Amino acid sequence: MTWFSSPTDAATRLGEHGYLADPATATTAYLAGALEKPLLVEGPAGVGKTELAKAVARATGADLVRLQCYEGLDEARALYEWNYKKQLLRIQASQGDGQSWSETHDDIFTDEFLLTRPLLTAIRREEQTVLLIDEVDKTDVEVEGLLLEVLSDFQVTIPELGTVEAVRRPFVVLTSNATRELSEAVKRRCLYLHLDYPDAEREREIVTSQVPGLEDKIAEQLVATIGRLRELELKKAPSIAESVDWARTLIALEIRDLDEKAIADTLGVVLKHASDQDRAVRELKLRS
Ligand SMILES: Nc1ncnc2c1ncn2[C@@H]1O[C@H](COP(=O)(O)OP(=O)(O)OP(=O)(O)O)[C@@H](O)[C@H]1O
Ligand SMILES: [Mg+2]
Repeated sequence: MTWFSSPTDAATRLGEHGYLADPATATTAYLAGALEKPLLVEGPAGVGKTELAKAVARATGADLVRLQCYEGLDEARALYEWNYKKQLLRIQASQGDGQSWSETHDDIFTDEFLLTRPLLTAIRREEQTVLLIDEVDKTDVEVEGLLLEVLSDFQVTIPELGTVEAVRRPFVVLTSNATRELSEAVKRRCLYLHLDYPDAEREREIVTSQVPGLEDKIAEQLVATIGRLRELELKKAPSIAESVDWARTLIALEIRDLDEKAIADTLGVVLKHASDQDRAVRELKLRS
C-alpha cells in the first residue's frame, strides 16, 4: 500500500484531517511515502512540524509511534532494553528447578524479556506506522549514530536475538528546531522540508478552520497583526499555535474588533516575554 498517490492527494487528505499543507509540504509528504525515505522537517517553533507527522497518520489511517528526543536519551530508551527484574526472577526460579545456566541463559534472552522502545516498536509493527522522531536536535550526537543505523536499513541487531528487519517500512518524520546542525550522514538519508510561518492567506485558513465562529474581519486583523509582530525583532516570534490561541481568546472575550486596546489587553496570549511585549507596545504604538 502506498501512502499518498500524488502531491494533490496528499494535500487533499491532509486537509481533510485538519492539516493545511502548502504545495511544498504536500509534495514532500507524497515523496517521503513514495520513495520510502525519512522526512526531516526543520523550522522555528510552532509552525506545524510535529503536527505534520500526526496528520499523516490520521490521513492514512496509520498508527503513530513517537520517540520524543531529549538530552541524555539513550539506546535503552530509544531502541530496547532487557527487563532485568523479570530476568532476575526467572534466574531465581530456575535455580530451584535445577536448570543449567545455559538453559536459563537461552530462556531469559527471548522476546518475553525484551522491552521494546519506539524505534524497535516501529520496525517490528506489521501495520501501517508513522514513526515520529521528535526534536531530534535535542539529543546527543551518539543517538544520531543509532538513528543512522535504523534509518539506513530499517533493521536493528540485537546481539542475543539476531537481526530484526522491518516487515513494512514506517513513514518516518524527524523534526528539528535547528538548535544544532544534524550530521551530514543523517541528512543524506532524509528528504528535507523547511517549514516556516505560513503566508497570511494560509494562516487565516488554519485559524478559521480550527476556531469556528471567528468572523472574517477579525481573522484578517489577527493574521495581519501576527505578521507585523513577526517582523519585529523579538525573542520569540508568535507561532501558528499562538495565532490559534489568540483567536480563541478573542472569541471568549467577545472581542469583534482587534483595535489597539484589544491587542494591548490580550498581548500575553501571543508574546511571552516582557521585553517582547514592551517592544510590541512601542513599535505598534499600542495604548492600554
Ligand atoms: N499547516 C497546518 N494546518 C493546521 N494546523 C497547523 C498547521 N501548522 C501548524 N498548525 C497548528 O499549530 C500547532 C503547533 O504545531 P506543532 O506542534 O506541529 O509545532 P512544531 O513545529 O512541532 O513546534 P515545536 O518546534 O515547538 O515543537 C498545531 O497544534 C496546529 O494546531
Ligand atoms: Mg513539535
